[in-house]
Amino acid sequence: MPKKRPEGKLYLVTGGAGFIGSCFVLDCLARKQAAVLNLDKLTYSGNLQNLAAVMDDPRHIFATGDIGDTALVDELLENYAPEAIINFAAESHVDRSIVDPTPFVDANVAGLCSFLGATLRWWRKLPAGQAATFRFLHISTDEVFGSLGPTDPAFTEKTPYAPNSPYSASKAASDHFVRAFHETYGLPTLITNCSNNYGPRQFPEKLIPLVLLNALSGRDIPIYGKGDNVRDWLHVEDHCAAINLTLERGTPGESYNIGGRSERRNLEVIEAICALLDKVRPDPQGHYARLIRHVQDRPGHDRRYAIDCGKIEHELGWKPAHDFTRGLAETVDWYLNNPDWLAAVQSGAYRNWVEKNYHNR
Ligand code: NAD
Ligand code: DAU
Repeated sequence: MPKKRPEGKLYLVTGGAGFIGSCFVLDCLARKQAAVLNLDKLTYSGNLQNLAAVMDDPRHIFATGDIGDTALVDELLENYAPEAIINFAAESHVDRSIVDPTPFVDANVAGLCSFLGATLRWWRKLPAGQAATFRFLHISTDEVFGSLGPTDPAFTEKTPYAPNSPYSASKAASDHFVRAFHETYGLPTLITNCSNNYGPRQFPEKLIPLVLLNALSGRDIPIYGKGDNVRDWLHVEDHCAAINLTLERGTPGESYNIGGRSERRNLEVIEAICALLDKVRPDPQGHYARLIRHVQDRPGHDRRYAIDCGKIEHELGWKPAHDFTRGLAETVDWYLNNPDWLAAVQSGAYRNWVEKNYHNR
């Protein structure tokens, strides 16, 4: 890792080898917005292939490590003095948190708390001007707000927290720590709470890539319960655009909800993927929808998420640009056009997870 900081602005991005973090890094470098110091532990979902296009770019510095490793974080902050930190690093999958909550507490709560502490110590030593413009942006989720009924109004920034899964409980705790570091110590933090992302490079434990992968390999497509749970789908590029605006224009201490204004029942999403595949990659054995199987529901499965993103629209001027129908078709195309990426992520560890989560379901 070079010790020298590239010229101009630099962001410390954590979790930048994952699905959303890599989209942010690629976009940031493509737009020459800032150089990126990318700190990622490379857990099962961290994938350097996501960053192949920028691994030789001198404005991208990759460091393998844990946000909870204080000695490493101290060194990185001293050497690189970022203008902002964007924290994507987390354990991110609800089903895994149900099997074992401990890694979620370790990364999302304890790790994040150490990371905030190291950031605060470094930030306090900055000259006043730099300290005032520095930002710590924490990426969170709509799941912290709990579950909605079919006709309940969408989550706003004022909706009380009511997390239902170990994952969402850990994210709720992380949000509280971020808020507390602002209120108690004045660290200029921002929080974004977004809905379900979709797009290229998502690890195929999550619904959309899992359905695609199973369909293409002729395996059953597992749908939890009746398939009438509702999610609000946000294109990952729209999410990254919202993060950028929040960094540039957001008020420290505030949180911003980000959603796609695209609520869909899970069954609708799965059927849409099957119909797209029927068109572009027809299976001689019949329609892909024949593979759909209703399986045992996720325990504590949140019924519906819906985001009211009026605040970020009115205050920061953001709007989702992607239409879900088109965005889903483009996403399906991306996976079909990147068979090497798909093959590489299906390591033994991935197959073990699939066996553990779906066997006997
Ligand atoms: P992901 O699992 O694809 O990526 C997470 C990345 O964080 C991986 O590269 C992993 O190696 C890294 N990481 C994990 N623990 C780490 C640690 N202790 N130190 C350093 N790096 C670590 O997840 P994603 O879908 O890209 O989600 C990114 C963030 O966005 C998470 O905080 C998640 O809670 C949040 N979020 C995701 C969604 C979604 O739909 N995917 C929606 C709302 C919020
Ligand atoms: O809402 C934001 C959250 O969205 C993020 O905070 C999480 O990091 C992200 O993983 C996602 O959580 P979900 O639990 O909503 O995503 P997942 O893709 O796991 O599931 C989406 C829906 O599909 C959910 O209702 C469960 C259902 N599902 C999922 C899988 C993996 C199935 O029916 N079958 C499946 O095999």
